[in-house]
Amino acid sequence: MGVLEATDLALPPIAPRRRQPQTNGVKATVTSSTTKQPSLRTHFTLNTGAQIPAVGFGTWKAAPGEAGRAVEAAFAAGYRHLDCAPLYHNEAEIGQVLRATSVPRGEYFVTTKLWSSDHRRASQALDKSLRDLGLEYVDLWLMHWPVTLPPASEPEGYGKEDRTVHDPEWDFRDTWREMERILRDGSGRVRAIGVANFSTVNLEKLLSAPGVTVVPAVNQTELQPLLPQDKLHALCAARGIHQTAFGPLGGAPVEGSTTLHDEAVVREIAKARGVSTANVLLSWGVAKGWSVIPKSVNPGRTAANLRDNFVPSDEEMRKLDGLAGSAGPRRFNRPNWGTTVFHDDDVNTK
Ligand SMILES: NC(=O)c1ccc[n+]([C@@H]2O[C@H](COP(=O)([O-])OP(=O)(O)OC[C@H]3O[C@@H](n4cnc5c(N)ncnc54)[C@H](OP(=O)(O)O)[C@@H]3O)[C@@H](O)[C@H]2O)c1
Repeated sequence: MGVLEATDLALPPIAPRRRQPQTNGVKATVTSSTTKQPSLRTHFTLNTGAQIPAVGFGTWKAAPGEAGRAVEAAFAAGYRHLDCAPLYHNEAEIGQVLRATSVPRGEYFVTTKLWSSDHRRASQALDKSLRDLGLEYVDLWLMHWPVTLPPASEPEGYGKEDRTVHDPEWDFRDTWREMERILRDGSGRVRAIGVANFSTVNLEKLLSAPGVTVVPAVNQTELQPLLPQDKLHALCAARGIHQTAFGPLGGAPVEGSTTLHDEAVVREIAKARGVSTANVLLSWGVAKGWSVIPKSVNPGRTAANLRDNFVPSDEEMRKLDGLAGSAGPRRFNRPNWGTTVFHDDDVNTK
């Protein structure tokens, strides 16, 4: 586990980029000494020593009746990381697939999360996720948001709480100490703990809190070319915290609004490479050094999102890195928590 005293927590180096296109990185090795050609990263190493797949599978908004099929398609396509959460109301359906799969448990990585109204009952919430997923352990357990809500009054209200009404006597540092306790309690229910949606301000607050000894293995946040979060990335890299990009495709399209897929630079690279705009966005993320967890309930897109990624050239990276500056920063997932959670956002972030 990543303890605060540990100093050697730097991220592994990102594989150097090459100018020639390369596809089907999933089967590629991390480095190839015979060809001396850089390959697409297939995994990143966490501060626990565990490996997290570079491209995982998101499950938010995979509706009842869809989520199980989507996960089956993801396994068949070769995904070996599922990003889950009780908030998504589909862990039980995903659990049916996990109970039936022939993929050995040691060969896939599962993340689940602790929802905000469960901060005071973390252990029970974890047990519920494990029961629903049909698992003895999860590889990674994340605090979903850095805000504590009072428990929902009835089960139907779970996830629909008023996010602006907070628990005044319990904050995310209390929750993290409890997650640390569970990590070490000998039950083996979680292999690593981490956070999500933490800004630099909240990360510093967590890391300097009395009694906190474990450095989060992961901070899962929205990361895409219009929201590269350089300051957050620098802090995470310095503290040995791996970043996972959620919403790497900009999330579900909103009627009347443009998407990341519409950005001219993204389209041009996709056209030149003969891949989808999604592959351009995902390849950029992996080249930046973070794991990406695209969601799809469309089996064709699911397969292509894993299969057709490539190592972007320096020129392609320069163009994609320039997008936030030219098009302006944009955050697609911005719920109102009634308090600042996105401390690092530029004032112009749309
Ligand atoms: N920690 C957090 O607070 C947090 C927040 C948000 C998300 N997440 C996690 O991150 C995962 C991914 O984020 P997300 O689901 O918000 O968004 P996303 O993966 O960026 O985008 C998903 C949307 O893109 C579409 N899509 C997928 N592949 C595509 C392709 N090749 N071409 C065009 N469109 C494509 C999907 O539609 P189809 O399904 O119809 O293909 C869906 O509408 C989530 O599922 C969840 O596991 C975590």
